[in-house]
Amino acid sequence: MKTLLQINTSLFSEQGHSSQLARHFVEAWQARYPEGRVLLRDLAKDPVPHLTAERFQALLTPPGERSAEQQAVADFSDTLIEELRQAELIVLGLPMYNFGVPSQLKAYFDHVARAGITFRYTEHGPVGLLGDKTVHVLATRGGAYQGTAKDTQSLYVRDFFEFLGVRDLHFTYAEGLNLGEAQRQAALAEAQARIAALAA
Ligand SMILES: Cc1cc2nc3c(=O)[nH]c(=O)nc-3n(C[C@H](O)[C@H](O)[C@H](O)COP(=O)(O)O)c2cc1C
Repeated sequence: MKTLLQINTSLFSEQGHSSQLARHFVEAWQARYPEGRVLLRDLAKDPVPHLTAERFQALLTPPGERSAEQQAVADFSDTLIEELRQAELIVLGLPMYNFGVPSQLKAYFDHVARAGITFRYTEHGPVGLLGDKTVHVLATRGGAYQGTAKDTQSLYVRDFFEFLGVRDLHFTYAEGLNLGEAQRQAALAEAQARIAALAA
């Protein structure tokens, strides 16, 4: 059975444009794979705490030596990683906030990058351990940056997944959402049409 993980990172949860595009993808995918399983991780509804020295130390401490508090931190991280492991397909709603990814997504990344679990270092450099997966990124922006040097966001997200061994990434953009109603409607319609084709 195929498993899809939808990750919403918008401040506005399922109301965000990026989450709505992600939902659009999931609905098209479900029409194609009615038996498919969908996992939903909404980082606005269930925020991931910022990584602190204490939390990082908890993740580094060997399982048998953790305090109850440290074990809870590790369990939480393990749950996030297990969702990623189970999914063949990851659908990531990605708004641009202040030229970068939502801080919630950064906190999430900080909890799923685990040495020895999702990546390991070798004498030839880091090796990702998450394996074969496809990621569809649905990126929404008020302005327009795709293909310019200001779009560090796309590069960062690609670099992060590749670090964990996930190399099959596809980006769909809805840009200029704050550049007037006509542009907003056109960009969203274009993204939806592309998503329908991708998910089919
Ligand atoms: C706090 C905040 C910061 C934003 N910063 C940017 C930005 O740096 N560049 C940009 O193009 N749009 C920016 N926007 C506009 C959002 O990218 C746009 O509204 C997008 O649709 C948000 O996606 P969402 O509805 O899924 O949250 C910002 C919006 C918010 C709320």
